[in-house]
Amino acid sequence: MKILEWNEALVLGCQEIDTHHRKLVGILGKVHQDFVDGVIDIGPVLDELQEYTKYHFRSEELWMLDGVYPEIAAHRREHAFFLNKVGALRKEHDKGVQYLSLETISFLEEWITNHIKKMDVTLACHLLTDASAALPGPAN
Ligand SMILES: [Fe+2]
Ligand SMILES: [Fe+2]
Repeated sequence: MKILEWNEALVLGCQEIDTHHRKLVGILGKVHQDFVDGVIDIGPVLDELQEYTKYHFRSEELWMLDGVYPEIAAHRREHAFFLNKVGALRKEHDKGVQYLSLETISFLEEWITNHIKKMDVTLACHLLTDASAALPGPAN
């Protein structure tokens, strides 16, 4: 299975969101690469995934509030679902599970890809077209 990489199909045209997504896709790529390399402790990369996902989702939700985004509830539910999933993986790791299955990794990669293409794309369009929407500030 191919490791997820940043690609044109994921570009939404809203620079700050794209910067975040590029970083997130890079972390998922690291998760997958660790699997391929047989890295024994996936704790650090899981921490990075959890922390950055929290930061990114929080940022998007703030941009939605700024831009009076109509679909905030549904979008938030999706974010909460993914964060729960990553949190559960982190807990399993704490209990001694030292690896992720390829099935799990492909689930994470597909979820993010679909979320960007189906949900974030509407948010990016809203931020770019709605005059009342405050465009996201600089990412870190
Ligand atoms: Fe999102
Ligand atoms: Fe996103």
